[in-house]
Amino acid sequence: MSSVTDSLTVRDNRTGQEYEVPILDGAIKAADIGKIRSGEDEPGLAVYDPGFVNTASCRSSVTFIDGDKGILEYRGYPIEQLAEQSSFLEVAYLLVHGSLPSKDEYDQWVHNITYHTFVHENVKGFMEGFRYDAHPMGMLMASVGALSTFYPESRNISDADNRAIQIIRMIAKMPTLGAWSFRHAQGKPYVYPDNELSYTENFLSMLFKMSEPTYQADERIVKALDTLFILHADHEQNASANAVRAVGSTQVDPYSAVSAGIGALFGPLHGGANEAVLRMLKRIGNKSEIPAFIEGVKNGNERLMGFGHRVYKNYDPRAKIIKKACDDVFEVTGVNPLLEVAQELEKIALEDEYFVKRKLYPNVDFYSGLIYEALEFPPEMFTVLFAIGRTPGWLAQWLELTQDKEQKIARPKQIYTGSRGLTYTPTEQRWA
Ligand code: ACO
Repeated sequence: MSSVTDSLTVRDNRTGQEYEVPILDGAIKAADIGKIRSGEDEPGLAVYDPGFVNTASCRSSVTFIDGDKGILEYRGYPIEQLAEQSSFLEVAYLLVHGSLPSKDEYDQWVHNITYHTFVHENVKGFMEGFRYDAHPMGMLMASVGALSTFYPESRNISDADNRAIQIIRMIAKMPTLGAWSFRHAQGKPYVYPDNELSYTENFLSMLFKMSEPTYQADERIVKALDTLFILHADHEQNASANAVRAVGSTQVDPYSAVSAGIGALFGPLHGGANEAVLRMLKRIGNKSEIPAFIEGVKNGNERLMGFGHRVYKNYDPRAKIIKKACDDVFEVTGVNPLLEVAQELEKIALEDEYFVKRKLYPNVDFYSGLIYEALEFPPEMFTVLFAIGRTPGWLAQWLELTQDKEQKIARPKQIYTGSRGLTYTPTEQRWA
């Protein structure tokens, strides 16, 4: 880590003036660059960075990623260990609280989350009002946003106890809202939470239970889904965490901020990728079509969905763990025939110069869609599953933001490229 004494000497060739810019933690402050001006009345120099490719927006102690080495750690713990040995609710505690829970803390946490899974009946009422074919992500986004009206005190974000209860509510209710969004499209009655079941078992029960008194999920499926939730739980400043932070920076309630995160996750370049992967695999259909498809990708006609990552340029550590979860699930459900296409596609792409040169490797979404499909989820549900897993991460990022004195309302600069000082001509003259 750099010390405060490190600096950058910048010479402005427009004026010949030199500036000393401090380097701290491997970064310079954009505000220091803003002090560089070509004249007293000229604006300060700005940094142009669409997509924030090389701009740190915060200090964070939640998640560490080394994209070149393929390392992912939550609060310092490697993802491989957490996926293998922990549970989703323990990981959620770790992300939100910053350290692993004692037995008492864990029991209390699980108890609290279990007993907040129910939602107000009016939530059910408005969810029933969605069109029969409403996308479940749209339903989830809207219903999470609407929770702010059921808990108006959530606007008091400076109160620690108040923040804590909203966090518990949101982690608890997300599976209820996600499962109901799923049942809605099927025209099936919504299933109420069962407090006797674990978090993931209860979710499966709300998804699939019919007339049986208690839904019995296969243990291997429960473990695989729990692992998938862990793998998706946080990913530092990804597009949806950034959306949560940007909206949260206005000091709005956490339901509104997380609902913005769900919107960001919905997009096919982010959480929507696993849905897009599955559609792509179905379109390719069988192995013989792969070479033509790869040619299309290389010619820029389409993207190989589930490949490439803004941060991982070596491999995505989550993709490795998912492959193992794939095996466990297929043991129960039988092998998904698209697995063969996916494996062959991966093999060819990993050997092809186009992908090798650009450091494009399978990301977390390349295989997760296959698991979800084997579990009989329609593709529209895939991103909902991602959202449930990502909720503790969004909340940990939001919590950190609310306590970070350096944070301000997120409001980037622009480089204006439009016209100036035009004269408006009234419509009677323009349209005459
Ligand atoms: N298929 C084909 N070419 C690709 C792909 C891909 N999946 N991804 C990147 N490239 C190419 C780009 O065309 C570009 O080539 P060029 O240098 O010749 O122009 C080069 O690789 C660099 O790509 P960028 O788009 O600049 O990389 P960026 O970091 O902006 O994008 C992203 C990352 C959005 C994930 C991209 O790789 C992509 O679109 N992948 C497919 C969608 C996907 O799987 N998203 C899930 C991400 S993981 C997650 O959100 C959980």
